[in-house]
Amino acid sequence: MTPAIRTTGLSHAYMSGQAKTTILHDVSMEVAPGQTVALIGRSGSGKSTLLNLISGLEPIGTGDVVLNGESMKSLNDHQRTLLRGRQIGFIYQSFNLIPTLSVADNIALPLALAGSKAAQQNHRIAELLTAVGLEGRNRDYPDRLSGGEQQRVAIARALIHKPALILADEPTGNLDANSGRQVMQLLNDLVSQQNSAMLLVTHSMEVARGADHILMLESGGIRRVEPDTLTQSAAW
Ligand SMILES: Nc1ncnc2c1ncn2[C@@H]1O[C@H](COP(=O)(O)OP(=O)(O)OP(=O)(O)O)[C@@H](O)[C@H]1O
Ligand SMILES: [Mg+2]
Repeated sequence: MTPAIRTTGLSHAYMSGQAKTTILHDVSMEVAPGQTVALIGRSGSGKSTLLNLISGLEPIGTGDVVLNGESMKSLNDHQRTLLRGRQIGFIYQSFNLIPTLSVADNIALPLALAGSKAAQQNHRIAELLTAVGLEGRNRDYPDRLSGGEQQRVAIARALIHKPALILADEPTGNLDANSGRQVMQLLNDLVSQQNSAMLLVTHSMEVARGADHILMLESGGIRRVEPDTLTQSAAW
């Protein structure tokens, strides 16, 4: 089976002045369709950098990112943007909803960017709003929603175009334990219904243990850790 996402020998460094700091070194990993992989590691270990490389927000230097069988490195900027728009859904810690757009318009954004007609979007928006427990809230604006509700809108937005890959960067980081649990439950249910793959950054042991596999970034390298050896520590 083709992995939804695969990185091969991915390395990444930032220049600060003359000095080069290597953040990721020879990172190879994959996520199969229908699988959730938790990505853990202490603050600054490169988790968001890896997500940004996978999504094409950071240019790939060494190594490659293969999205649904297609090498990102061989594509030009325009092709990469199109591929990302079609195949990836993002969920951020800080929700990143657009305050001047209604709930429905926020959710429809990935479809609108892909040029789909409003009439085709309405059915899918209604379906997702129901799935995330926000039926009838189409016309509300983000500032009228609680943190958990905003995150559920962000989940609907990430899933509306049925992407092969969901990238979630600490999706429960700004939520209380209970809302976090509800959001994870919802995300896991929707991801498995759509058979999407999900790469999920988290600092929560509970969230990490809910994933199919756990990968840890440490000193630039990536390694698999078993859930039962996982202890919540300052290291992540
Ligand atoms: N644009 C940039 N230029 C230079 N250094 C950067 C840049 N972006 C990130 N870094 C550095 O790269 C390292 C990894 O950052 P990254 O955001 O990937 O960490 P993280 O694992 O997501 O951390 P956190 O858990 O705090 O979100 C950090 O030391 C950071 O300072
Ligand atoms: Mg981060």
